[in-house]
Amino acid sequence: MVVRRSDADIAADLLAAGQRLAGRPWTFVKSVPSLEFLPDPERVEIAFAGRSNVGKSSLINATLINGKLARTSNTPGRTQELNYYRPEQPNVYLVDMPGYGFAKAPKDKVDSWTALVKDYLRGRAVLARVFLLIDSRHGIKAIDRTIMELLDTSAVSYQVVLTKGDKLNPHALAKVTDETRVAIAKHPAAFPEVIATSSELGTGLDALRAEMARLLAERGQPVGM
Ligand code: GTP
Ligand code: MG
Repeated sequence: MVVRRSDADIAADLLAAGQRLAGRPWTFVKSVPSLEFLPDPERVEIAFAGRSNVGKSSLINATLINGKLARTSNTPGRTQELNYYRPEQPNVYLVDMPGYGFAKAPKDKVDSWTALVKDYLRGRAVLARVFLLIDSRHGIKAIDRTIMELLDTSAVSYQVVLTKGDKLNPHALAKVTDETRVAIAKHPAAFPEVIATSSELGTGLDALRAEMARLLAERGQPVGM
């Protein structure tokens, strides 16, 4: 039997810290079109990566309680640069990444976004965690596996987050979650837990917030009161 971790299993203090983190006033810092424009590596970075249109920008908006920051769109290829967001405290940046894989955009543009994503993921010392978003209807695709292997090789810790869970019935979503957990077990840098989310319904967001709070505490940046 698979023991499913629910919000009820997450320590109350972490859930509360996650809520406080998400409730901070977050502000947009900058858009980074290439690596030479990255901010100084003074803050822990948490990045949201995934195929175009998987729901990265929507998940950031839904997770941060305080205001709509990231631009979303029906058209894959909305986010074209690394977009940085920060609260005053703790010392963290959230990074909304361009999608990799496909988009309704010229191939050379898609190739350049993919190169930017790969170069950033491979070489950023302050990058503490990647949330790797997978559309719950489609599961892990070949291009996702390429990114997972890159993260494994670069020893960058990542956690798979299923998106658009509202598009599946609860039984189907639980099945995909279990299958995804099995699929990532052989990836050395993958966090063993999978978080199923819906930005539409707000499900899974407390678990995601708590995970960010836990990670920051581990990195010596606890969420204050
Ligand atoms: P790019 O920046 O182009 O790579 O896309 P993205 O991954 O940032 O996706 P974005 O957040 O822009 O969302 C893409 C589309 O999916 C939009 O039409 C969103 O409204 C929709 N979407 C995002 N999250 C959800 C969700 O949880 N449920 C449903 N039903 N739709 C969602
Ligand atoms: Mg986006």
